[in-house]
Amino acid sequence: MSDHQNNGDSRVETFDARSPSRRRFLKSMGASGLAAATAPAWAQIAQASQQQQNAPVEPQDDGAPAEGEQQIQLTVNGVEHTLNVKPNAVLLDVLRDRLMLTGTKKGCDQGQCGACTLLVNDTAINSCLSLAVSHDGDSVTTIEGLSNGDELHPVQAAFWEHDAYQCGYCTSGQIMSAVAILNDDNIGSDDASVREAMSGNICRCGAYKNILAAVQDARGKMEGAS
Ligand code: FES
Ligand code: FES
Repeated sequence: MSDHQNNGDSRVETFDARSPSRRRFLKSMGASGLAAATAPAWAQIAQASQQQQNAPVEPQDDGAPAEGEQQIQLTVNGVEHTLNVKPNAVLLDVLRDRLMLTGTKKGCDQGQCGACTLLVNDTAINSCLSLAVSHDGDSVTTIEGLSNGDELHPVQAAFWEHDAYQCGYCTSGQIMSAVAILNDDNIGSDDASVREAMSGNICRCGAYKNILAAVQDARGKMEGAS
């Protein structure tokens, strides 16, 4: 069962969406990926996220590849890895299962929901559709690599400030798409352009209004900082 399928857990549905404890909890998740939020119990999520936040990924070197494997060099969130992967290994699975970077989510696994969005060489892609071997030498940024230490990226901070999520499953993909959009001069700054540019990121909870507000707020903060 994918972790998205845990959304039906009644403990999630009955959680007080406006409680101060929820906001504190989500803020604590920020640096390691707001979107780790679909495990059955919120307390377990918070603990797991805190552990992930406190455990930076070490460089991995698989050594000589076995028969049928291919060696690739991948820089993920600034850390260089030498990985041996099957030719059909998908980038999303390599990041989640080999490097334990589970902030990037698997939703549809068919390129239709955007939950798996991350940045490759600063361009947003659906990592569920991309073979790892096609990224030899590339630089990947996941939600775990967005913050600067304990300081949230402006887009992460804006999502928190605007409550731009409910279950949180789509959130890492939404944030990564937003970062790419805000750094793309070819995408207009008006609401309609942002909606169009982010139309590949589906939110089953329907948090679109707050997501748009967060993106536009982050735009202002990023422009103010530059
Ligand atoms: S999991 Fe990749 S687009 Fe849905
Ligand atoms: S916040 Fe639940 S799917 Fe978007």
